[in-house]
Amino acid sequence: MTRKILVTSALPYANGAIHIGHLVEYIQTDIWVRFQKSRGHTCHYVCADDTHGTPIMLRAEKEGISPEALIARVHGEHSRDFAGFHVGFDNYYSTNSEENRHFAGTIYRQLKDNGKIVSRTINQLYDPVKNMFLPDRFVKGECPKCHAKDQYGDNCEVCGATYSPTELINPFSAVSGATPELRESEHYFFKLGDCESFLKGWTTTPGKLQAEAANKMQEWFESGLSDWDISRDAPYFGFEIPDAPGKYFYVWLDAPVGYMASHKNLCDRLGLDFDEYWKKDSSTELYHFIGKDILYFHALFWPAMLEFSGYRTPTAINTHGFLTVDGAKMSKSRGTFITAESYLNHLNPEWLRYYFAAKLSNTFEDIDLNFEDFTARVNSDLIGKYVNIASRAAGFISKRFAGQLASQLGQVELLSRLQAASESIAQHFEAREYSRAIREIMALTDEVNQFVDQHKPWEMAKQEGREQDLQQVCSILINAFRILTIYLKPVLPKLASDVEAFLNVAPLQWQDAQTLLTSHTINTYNHLMTRIDPKQIEAMIEENKQALPAPAEAPAAAPSYEIPAISETISIDDFMKVDLRIARIANAQHVEGAEKLLQLTLDLGNETRNVFAGIKSAYKPEDLIGKHTVMVANLAPRKMKFGLSEGMVLAAGGDGGLYILEPHDGAKPGMRVK
Ligand code: 2FM
Ligand code: ZN
Repeated sequence: MTRKILVTSALPYANGAIHIGHLVEYIQTDIWVRFQKSRGHTCHYVCADDTHGTPIMLRAEKEGISPEALIARVHGEHSRDFAGFHVGFDNYYSTNSEENRHFAGTIYRQLKDNGKIVSRTINQLYDPVKNMFLPDRFVKGECPKCHAKDQYGDNCEVCGATYSPTELINPFSAVSGATPELRESEHYFFKLGDCESFLKGWTTTPGKLQAEAANKMQEWFESGLSDWDISRDAPYFGFEIPDAPGKYFYVWLDAPVGYMASHKNLCDRLGLDFDEYWKKDSSTELYHFIGKDILYFHALFWPAMLEFSGYRTPTAINTHGFLTVDGAKMSKSRGTFITAESYLNHLNPEWLRYYFAAKLSNTFEDIDLNFEDFTARVNSDLIGKYVNIASRAAGFISKRFAGQLASQLGQVELLSRLQAASESIAQHFEAREYSRAIREIMALTDEVNQFVDQHKPWEMAKQEGREQDLQQVCSILINAFRILTIYLKPVLPKLASDVEAFLNVAPLQWQDAQTLLTSHTINTYNHLMTRIDPKQIEAMIEENKQALPAPAEAPAAAPSYEIPAISETISIDDFMKVDLRIARIANAQHVEGAEKLLQLTLDLGNETRNVFAGIKSAYKPEDLIGKHTVMVANLAPRKMKFGLSEGMVLAAGGDGGLYILEPHDGAKPGMRVK
């Protein structure tokens, strides 16, 4: 039976870059969606940027642009990063959309008609300089419990105490530094407590929540459900509440509604029936993939909002844990706060997809990205075991049989076993037990490699009269490789599409594992995937260390190095004689026997130059490769002991260190520096 499934991942905020911590969820969801599509189900995967709220408003202000300009830019960056990791949304939208305004307003009105909205006056801290009420995170001060300074308004990072911002000692506004005042304001509340009996029933319905989430619910019910403050005062970047001028929906009210808005936008584009998915008692399925930190919003507020405004509720909430890197929280100073963009500058996205899949299960457990383990697993499983099957068989098929697979494979137990594993692997994917799926696929891969070792095609190839055997064995291997590719395709979509091109077949679906390829011509084998070189990881970590934001204030201390006097003046004509160019360091290597020199190959766009630079004390060659720098391009070539040096790179020095000059992003090889 074909299912109709709608899937979402949490909406990332529109004021920050996607990093590998986020990617656990998008990769987890994308694998599940690709699996469902491969099984022939109708499955749509929608997401959007979460664009409203004070942090986004202030960030835009700081950058001197409108919030709309900020969210448009970030939408481009997020879309680029997701595409880079092959996260295949059917729609990637924005919560700042007309559809979202419509549904947020509709849901609010329905809740109000159902008596679930109340208003009352509250006291909140107000910034008299910035003329705005301050969210808890924008008030700082001394912790009322342990007296640690500079703590946020909601909890102390030193002693862990939680409190209200009005309890802080010597509070100040993190926006302007002013001392906040307590002011009254009317706020709107969603009466969550009124929804308790529905929520108790819903959260205990089998299949809705994982065991850990159900336990969390128990705790929350025991401590009581309080009303939820859903309004914020102007200035606020968001939707004005329909019947309350100057009041705006709190960002978390319209964020999950963004799932509907994105889906509505997709339905309108493709002519699909939106109501079929969202009407009460819909027979379609709705799954939200989220991190454990936002369970409260998705397992309490969201189902209650949907239920009491006349919509269907989710089929299930699928929650995952956090990512640690080398056993610790991601850290900017250690370079392990790795952005999607910088990962993609150095490493293949499918390595991470595979590694996450190999670690993910259907629990809240955190997963660790351990770089040694990452390298070992990808290199040994993906390259050593899986890709190797194709590379061992393809050459013989191409060279000896003009790419033609055997017409008969015989009764091969190996292929039957691979085919028989289909449902068990499918069940693991369905249950989001990806690590089990991968384990089973890799065990089959081991069997295929044993088959290679038993039959030794390379020996058959040397023996006379064994042509047919050789063609048959290699054809079995190509078939085994094809079946394994079908099972891995949800995890490795790009690799699978390269395999489809190599095998000369249409896009593979799950069911195709039950058929075999015979008397079929395949294309020549091109290398499918390279091994991870640990140097690539080092370079990525280094790049993320360097991306650390500059400290807020420059140190006022006097420099600890000597500043030489400025040389005598030269004319502009003299200066113009020096032809400075942007160069990309295409290669850098040690020079045997040279104490101070590195040999650089500099790419000037339309030519390359060989330059010996005295920067060995400051740089490892591998750290320089790919960087851009500035060179004197018209310096007469100099013959040195080690070869001809065709120019000079510019570097700063004076404190014992050496720092090559690097242009801002966007400068391209060959550009003139003026
Ligand atoms: O925690 C977050 O990053 C939120 N932007 C997630 C929103 S998910 C959904 F409710 F919109
Ligand atoms: Zn404290």
